[in-house]
Amino acid sequence: MQQAHQFQDGDLVSKDEFYEHVIRGLSKKNKTLHPKYFYDKKGSEYFDQICQLDEYYPYKTELALLPKVARSVAEILTEDYALIEFGAGSLLKVEPLLEHVRGIEQFIPIDISGEHLRDACSQLSARFPALHVHPVEGDFTQQVAVPCAEDLQRIGFFPGSTIGNFSPSEAQNFLQQARATLGPNSYLLIGVDTKKSPACLHRAYNDAQGVTAAFNLNILHRVNQHFDANIDVAKFEHYAFYNATKGCVEMHLVCLHSHEVVLDEVSINFTAGETIHTESSYKYTPQEFGTLAESSGWHVHSHWLADHNMFSVFLLQNAETFV
Ligand code: AVJ
Repeated sequence: MQQAHQFQDGDLVSKDEFYEHVIRGLSKKNKTLHPKYFYDKKGSEYFDQICQLDEYYPYKTELALLPKVARSVAEILTEDYALIEFGAGSLLKVEPLLEHVRGIEQFIPIDISGEHLRDACSQLSARFPALHVHPVEGDFTQQVAVPCAEDLQRIGFFPGSTIGNFSPSEAQNFLQQARATLGPNSYLLIGVDTKKSPACLHRAYNDAQGVTAAFNLNILHRVNQHFDANIDVAKFEHYAFYNATKGCVEMHLVCLHSHEVVLDEVSINFTAGETIHTESSYKYTPQEFGTLAESSGWHVHSHWLADHNMFSVFLLQNAETFV
């Protein structure tokens, strides 16, 4: 059993897991760091700033679509429910659902950035005093025990196209696992970013103010803090581009000057020109995502598209319900 460890910055990530992932990821020929490690307190704040940028259309587009989605969902889902949000962050998306879907009695947001989540929950409780809110500090890329009432049907909520951080086969695993977590008669409301003009995608991940660059580079500061290491962050540059063959935006940190770093007695060589791959953000046409969902045991109940097909939201229904 891995020991859960409370880091000083208030984020509950298993220390062994973080340690092993960083060492393993940076020892590979093509170096990687997992995007879930972006979200320490500082990183979650950077992400909130990204959402306010003109260039970063996914946040604003989905938020503008959600009241319409919530009104339709309110007509479809008329029982009493527990709502479980995966990777809840600052809880900025759930309000339209809570306003329109009257039967939501319990709200269980799961997020890896615990302190950030708890702050957001106190604000939400002030807005919805009758709602039972049970924050869970956890990593939704792994199975998480959700403390909700047995007799309530479950709705999963996974907005923001966070599913894009998984490769298509990982996304399929996640969707199957979510089906098991949510159980019989469940639904999953999920936001998925669409394929679109590469120039538009490029701008969204290369903003003029450099907030995305700071967000990306922050992961190196986090590694330095936890290993008491000396990665020279100034020797790295943010690099993001749309890989049309794979259908994803890739984010990297490119090393500009060779240097050696010691991480807890493990020496890592960074060579000028090499990159650390920090994130992939997959984009799906509505057809592609529908096929992926169906292959994971979900039935596409409904879907909504923003203007110019800039973003999509799907209501999936547990296909077991149909047999
Ligand atoms: C939170 C994973 C949906 O992929 O667009 C934003 C993260 N990375 N800018 C995304 C992100 C760079 C975001 N997700």
